[in-house]
Amino acid sequence: MENLKGKVAVVTGGASGIGRALCLAFAGEGANVVVADLDEAGMAETAAGVLKAGTKTVTVKTDVTKLASVQALAERAWKELGGAHVLCNNAGVAVQGSIESATHHDWEWVLGVNLWGVIHGVEAFVPRMIAQRQPGHIVNTASMAGLIASQGLGVYNTSKYAVVGLSETLQKDLRPYDIGVSVLCPMGVTTNIGTSERSRPSDLKNPGGPPETGEIELIGRYLTPEHVAGRVLRAVKTNRLYVITHEEGRDPLRRRFERMDKAIEESA
Ligand SMILES: NC(=O)c1ccc[n+]([C@@H]2O[C@H](COP(=O)([O-])OP(=O)(O)OC[C@H]3O[C@@H](n4cnc5c(N)ncnc54)[C@H](O)[C@@H]3O)[C@@H](O)[C@H]2O)c1
Repeated sequence: MENLKGKVAVVTGGASGIGRALCLAFAGEGANVVVADLDEAGMAETAAGVLKAGTKTVTVKTDVTKLASVQALAERAWKELGGAHVLCNNAGVAVQGSIESATHHDWEWVLGVNLWGVIHGVEAFVPRMIAQRQPGHIVNTASMAGLIASQGLGVYNTSKYAVVGLSETLQKDLRPYDIGVSVLCPMGVTTNIGTSERSRPSDLKNPGGPPETGEIELIGRYLTPEHVAGRVLRAVKTNRLYVITHEEGRDPLRRRFERMDKAIEESA
């Protein structure tokens, strides 16, 4: 999708961090933007930025863990802005801690937002985007944690590996419809992800409160959300699958594939 002027972009998790930067980047290209999130105050701030860029915007309170909520989001996009050309399934949360210490609530919450949120986006939007018969693009936010496993991030890793797999297949499935797919795999980005607990619903809170592991610290540089959004924009325009923003990821990725390559010899 080379030209986004007058197109409609829908961004989940649009109230903060990478999602907000994506909304503003699309608005900067002349796209109208549907901002979706649980956080209404944050969405209002993002919407103000979009209006400043001179395009239309709608904010829709959305819980991506609920299919009905994401379907209602799609309904609003079509009703109020006439469709959706770019969908960013970006809302996400993180918990830290070893897998053996993860609670069932941790699994339900993180997979609910990070994986089911993306699945719901696909379920609610893809049939409509196909029926619209116009070029489109879907961006799923995974993480470098969807390509490399890190100790202490097992629940998050599980959700993000699934998002990478879903995106790789979706790209093949949607090619005939002229709908591209990108999967965003950054390392550290300066956002509010370290305080994800703020959006954990009360019925999934752990009895003893959040784990006492402090804020999530990732290796490598921390990039700004604006920088990352710029890379996503380029991938949408040039229809690239992988958006891997951190060159620090190259060595661990190479080591992972070398281990697999070796395993083929060892297992033969
Ligand atoms: N920040 C990083 O270092 C980093 C690195 C790799 C990947 N990511 C991914 O980037 C994406 C965006 O996160 P961010 O870093 O901007 O964090 P952020 O906390 O700044 O933004 C996440 C947004 O998601 C929203 N959200 C949470 N649960 C939701 C739900 N159930 N329904 C709708 N919205 C919900 C939050 O309200 C928040 O506005 C996530 O998928 C995250 O996993 C972040």
